[in-house]
Amino acid sequence: MESKPIEMAESTTRNPAGDKGAFVRDMFATIAPRYDRANRVLTGGLDELWRRRAIALLAPPKGARLLDLCCGTGDLSFHLMRHDPEAHVTGIDFCEPMLARARERAQHVGSGNAEFVEGDVTALPFADESFDGAIMGFSSRNIVDLERSLQEIRRVLRPGARFVNLDVSKAPNPIWKRAFDLYFYGVVPTLGGWIGGSKSAYTYLPQSLLHHPNAPALRDLFARAGFQDTGYLALMGGSIAVHYGTR
Ligand SMILES: C[S@@+](CC[C@H](N)C(=O)[O-])C[C@H]1O[C@@H](n2cnc3c(N)ncnc32)[C@H](O)[C@@H]1O
Repeated sequence: MESKPIEMAESTTRNPAGDKGAFVRDMFATIAPRYDRANRVLTGGLDELWRRRAIALLAPPKGARLLDLCCGTGDLSFHLMRHDPEAHVTGIDFCEPMLARARERAQHVGSGNAEFVEGDVTALPFADESFDGAIMGFSSRNIVDLERSLQEIRRVLRPGARFVNLDVSKAPNPIWKRAFDLYFYGVVPTLGGWIGGSKSAYTYLPQSLLHHPNAPALRDLFARAGFQDTGYLALMGGSIAVHYGTR
């Protein structure tokens, strides 16, 4: 696939989402140094499996230009590059300390095909139809204006390109949901506080699911943003969902 630099569109304000966006950004800045370790422990390493499932659904063509939205410390970007060393991955996030970890990790894994840029996913600094695929992990709950970001994601994808979103979701079975909620709202804040270094951040993170659409409603949001062939794969009894749609 031809390799030319991603065209950056005119830059927009740093934080169009306003105060709540600033709160989210500052919270991730606090937990950035220990974020990866906390993730592995809190999910028992299962997040690695879920990430691989998400990438299998993205099924990017060889040498594709791929966008990792809300890339954080770059976990999905590195998975994408392991999946296809010829891929060109752009990670974007509005939290500089998370990006700094991603850039540091990139030096260790020697990944020449990744770049990590600062920006807000509700106002993407890329030209229309720049990417062959886009992915986002564990972030949709934290985006202040999700509908706007879905429209932006669709705008920067080439026709026929896919967007895949992996995140925690609301399990449909009430018994399983109750068990998961006990862990998610009860154990994660304490355990995350110890490992991740901020009990308030790991209290907020589960809470952000409360006002997030359930899996069918999120699929409808994808469709409303103009994505075709929308759907989702439910993992862990629906406590984890991988949504997809095609531009
Ligand atoms: C839970 S972390 C997920 C990081 C990574 N995707 C992963 O799979 O581990 C959420 C990330 O979303 C970023 N984020 C939240 N809202 C954003 C926005 N509007 N624009 C850019 N990044 C945002 C945060 O800075 C944070 O790094």
